[in-house]
Amino acid sequence: MKKIAVLTGGGDCPGLNAVIRGIVKSAVIRRNWEVIGIEDGFDGFLVDTKRRPLTLESVRGILPRGGTILGTSNRGNPFSYPVEREGKTELVDVSGQVVEKIRGMGLDALVVIGGDGSLKIALELFQKGVPVVGVPKTIDNDLRETDVTFGYNTALETATDALDKLHSTAESHHRVMIMEVMGRYAGWIALESGIAGGADVILIPEIPFDMEGICRAIRQRSERGNRFSIVVVAEGAHPKGGGRVVKEQASVTHTVERLGGIGDYLAKELALCLNMETRVTVLGHLQRGGSPTTFDRCLASRFGVKAVDLVEREMFGHMVCLRGRDILSVPIEDAVQTLNLVDPDGPMARAAEELGIMMGR
Ligand code: F6P
Repeated sequence: MKKIAVLTGGGDCPGLNAVIRGIVKSAVIRRNWEVIGIEDGFDGFLVDTKRRPLTLESVRGILPRGGTILGTSNRGNPFSYPVEREGKTELVDVSGQVVEKIRGMGLDALVVIGGDGSLKIALELFQKGVPVVGVPKTIDNDLRETDVTFGYNTALETATDALDKLHSTAESHHRVMIMEVMGRYAGWIALESGIAGGADVILIPEIPFDMEGICRAIRQRSERGNRFSIVVVAEGAHPKGGGRVVKEQASVTHTVERLGGIGDYLAKELALCLNMETRVTVLGHLQRGGSPTTFDRCLASRFGVKAVDLVEREMFGHMVCLRGRDILSVPIEDAVQTLNLVDPDGPMARAAEELGIMMGR
């Protein structure tokens, strides 16, 4: 009989609960193991009240629920942990405490469900001797070594549905509608939802855009009798020679910059070159919420089951992944070295251009 712990780290996404449920079910029903839930990411190892047993009862009914029953945090990196000292916030390495706690709890394994940031922490803990298994999550789909992360499909559905809704109002009012989507430095959400939602212009971080070209494309559409246009812009997109639009710079407490505002920037620029009304919709955290799609429920459940299998086979330092239709595993190290970005000359971007979509170049 083994004792394992599970935590969810970083930004939430639909399907986290399905993974937790998959882990608990296969660990308890098939193996009679004990599962402990660690609350609010790695923070749960630093505060004794933030841990609880996960039983079949505690995961009942959570499969269709968005978010995570364990809570999460994208500020609690134990290798660089914000601590108040004499009125100032300092970053301190408290990873030793986390490792001690894991040993003290008598854990046979820790399953970390997280994106790039949380899996990097998981890898560092593994290098310090913690038996870790990873599960890749993020709506951004920017993790390597897996065909797709869970949560991404649901975010795409949300974005595509929003585009369908924007289409009808754009057409009625003969407007340019700009929709800003998430994705951080990757353009996957913008590109795939843009294709699925019939966008006319898609702007992604991987292809710095040319403002004149965008104006020309929208003008040409008008001249052909299309009196409205739909622009999908990824939050990380930026003009040629220009930088990203940042809402909040990285700081001691929030170690990554917060992107946002490129939609408004575009609207201002379009007003200078077009004689059309423009409106901006920022989809924001709606993309992270809601019930996971069938695809994400199934993928997340299979990831949970595979994570338990990896623990049983003591394949620590590995992460579950999707390859084709198979769930396999890869070293976490291989997955977190660089981000999985859209290839500007790859099949997805080229298909968009074949469809007549302006990709900013
Ligand atoms: O990584 C997921 C994500 O939703 C990004 O797409 C976005 O840039 C970021 O997290 C937003 O983070 P926060 O929840 O801290 O605003």
